[in-house]
Amino acid sequence: IHNVIFEDSRQGSQLVAQEIADLIRQRAASGQKCVLGLATGSSPIKVYEELVRMHREEGLSFKNVATFNLDEYHPMERNNIQSYHYFMHQHLFDHVDIDPLNVNVPDGMVPLEEVKEYCRSYEGKIEEAGGLDFQLLGIGRTGHIGFNEPGSHLNSATRDITLDHITRVDAAPAFKGLDNVPRKAITMGIGTIRKAKRIVLLAWGQNKSEVVKETIEGEISSEVPATYLQEHGNTTFVLDKEAAAQLT
Ligand code: F6R
Repeated sequence: IHNVIFEDSRQGSQLVAQEIADLIRQRAASGQKCVLGLATGSSPIKVYEELVRMHREEGLSFKNVATFNLDEYHPMERNNIQSYHYFMHQHLFDHVDIDPLNVNVPDGMVPLEEVKEYCRSYEGKIEEAGGLDFQLLGIGRTGHIGFNEPGSHLNSATRDITLDHITRVDAAPAFKGLDNVPRKAITMGIGTIRKAKRIVLLAWGQNKSEVVKETIEGEISSEVPATYLQEHGNTTFVLDKEAAAQLT
């Protein structure tokens, strides 16, 4: 893992948005699709803001872009304002010229008995698209990437998982109380994420400094699933000073 530390999240986000824009344009120039793996949560918001600005002011087009989101709560209606489906439309998809047919967010309403088959087809769709060219990640305080909580296997694929208590506590304010936070989610697996050709993980703020240290300096372990990224040859952690504060 290679890390870059910025004065603040705005500067870090601008660099990441620039890398994504360059990739989209480079792919478009050779008539190819650009396949992006995307995250929700607070960490990527400024990256999406900057991409929207580049679309409006610099003519950045998303016509050749296909996206796959990491995760969605289950059960969760797509039009619920707490859904990741809603989040992505609010922060990115509604403001750029992406073809809705190229947008993929796991469906939070798949019936339980169909989840297995659904997850297999999500995985298959990523492969058919040619794999993820770029995967954007945040990190949870449990060390999760996507919703791959502690105990996740190195080769795990897209599947349904039970959210860790800490993850639900962190989500509680957005849901106006712990009891309202879903207990389950559908997430891409560690194996899915590791196949991405390029991975950028964002972490901002002092709250993340401990898990960032464990992830970068700790032993590789399923107890901190993000440590699996140590074995991915093309991963960069983009941090602000606060998130990097405990690194030696
Ligand atoms: C979101 C996701 C999660 C978040 C993580 C950090 O799609 O997969 O792993 O990236 O929980 O969330 P924030 O950015 O809100 O601190």
